[in-house]
Amino acid sequence: MQQSEISIILQSEPSPLEITVKGWVRSFRSNRFIALNDGSTIRNLQCVVDYENFDEDLLRKVTVGAAIAVTGYLVESQGSGQAVEVKANKIAILGEAKPEEVKLTILSPKRHSLETLREQAHLRIRTNTFGAIMRTRSKLAFAVHEYFQKNNFHYFHSPIITGSDAEGAGEMFRVTALNPNDPPRNEDGEVDYDKDFFGKETNLTVSGQLEAETYAMGLGKVYTFGPTFRAENSNTSRHLAEFWMIEPEMAFFDLAANMDLAEDFIKYVIGYALENCAEDLEFLEERLLQEEKSKPQAERSEMTLREKLNFIIDNNFKRVTYTEAIDILKRSKPNQKKKFKYLIDEWGADLQSEHERYLVEKHFKCPVILFDYPAKIKAFYMRLNEDGKTVRAMDVLFPGIGEIVGGSQREERYDVLVEKMKAMDIPEEELYWYLDLRKFGTCVHSGFGLGFERLVQFVTGMGNIRDVIPYPRTPGNAEF
Ligand code: 4AD
Ligand code: MG
Repeated sequence: MQQSEISIILQSEPSPLEITVKGWVRSFRSNRFIALNDGSTIRNLQCVVDYENFDEDLLRKVTVGAAIAVTGYLVESQGSGQAVEVKANKIAILGEAKPEEVKLTILSPKRHSLETLREQAHLRIRTNTFGAIMRTRSKLAFAVHEYFQKNNFHYFHSPIITGSDAEGAGEMFRVTALNPNDPPRNEDGEVDYDKDFFGKETNLTVSGQLEAETYAMGLGKVYTFGPTFRAENSNTSRHLAEFWMIEPEMAFFDLAANMDLAEDFIKYVIGYALENCAEDLEFLEERLLQEEKSKPQAERSEMTLREKLNFIIDNNFKRVTYTEAIDILKRSKPNQKKKFKYLIDEWGADLQSEHERYLVEKHFKCPVILFDYPAKIKAFYMRLNEDGKTVRAMDVLFPGIGEIVGGSQREERYDVLVEKMKAMDIPEEELYWYLDLRKFGTCVHSGFGLGFERLVQFVTGMGNIRDVIPYPRTPGNAEF
């Protein structure tokens, strides 16, 4: 007797050998048809029961949500909708789900809003929507590794606990083992972190970039893929306090090579999902169509989900300097008519997501890579251009998402870097090791960071980032 996953069974030929399949009941129609799902695929396996041959008490326990094992023969399906089905010889109840209790949860068979599903994030993975999203997320994670490994990158594990602020933005979560009610204090009455676990102040990392740079200076091409943390109070559909970031870092790459890599990488992983998540994407595409039906015509997208994904693969990303972008935005209708929340009136303004989305969705109508930003609005480590006021930064902007990638060529010149750190109040003594890289065999190098959840959002068409990570951490929420 074989036990296999439903994804495999559904592709198998009818056979006189008995099989056993285990899963959760999605529905039980007419006391005859069990729709069984085991998470291996979005599709259910139909198990046909001759109720005359089964104990009534047993069949009463075949309810939505219950875990069961069905033993029987794989036969050609009589009904439409599936090629094969299981003719049940034996059913075992592995774990009951009482209907009166199920009724109070999202497992109950009716439409539940995404908000309600979020409140029961421990159960939402049993829905078609979350099964499809999380299987796609898993495939995308694999594609990330496959891309970099195929291209001779080394996977580098950046530390989670750090003593430095990579982005210099101060939005960090403190890590401490001190007693919050009675921490040791110094003479000035301040908390004495010298007495803390690490003998210094430490935080959860906001980015593995600085450490990745040290490894790129020995391994050549590296990438990180791990959790990062930001204590920014952003309650948007694109921000998480804990998110997964992918950060490649390459010795001897200039900004143009960095942009080439970002574009090639994104196209690869999206292509991988199209090829390997076909059924899940088909389901999510249909879900999106239904969702959009409630929107006014003007707000509906012109392309279906898979058309959008193919569009990314088939078109070159438009490369535009920050300066050109500001000109376009200044002259744009929403700016002239004061429709932007933040009006663009001069060079140097930081771009908000409304501006990024205007450029991508209204003006260029394709992914855009903006580069050469003003030094003032970007991090200290970015390479200063010859004009003395812009840096070799690049952001990749996507329709519906805005910024999906942020990266740069790094400042490799010791003196210029020290100057910039002074100007931006970045303490040199904390980053002596980072400065050392510029003393011992410094070279042109570049890298970028891609927010994994924003990628999963784009590929699955989900509007809210909280729905593409199993347990979202956002301001005021760390349930589960
Ligand atoms: O632009 P960011 O802040 O860049 C860095 O951290 C660099 N150190 C990366 C590098 O060059 N190695 O973040 C990079 C990307 C953003 O483009 C965005 O996709 C994602 O990380 N991101 C977030 N995703 C979800 N929630 C948040 N709060 C995010 N903040 C950034
Ligand atoms: Mg950024």
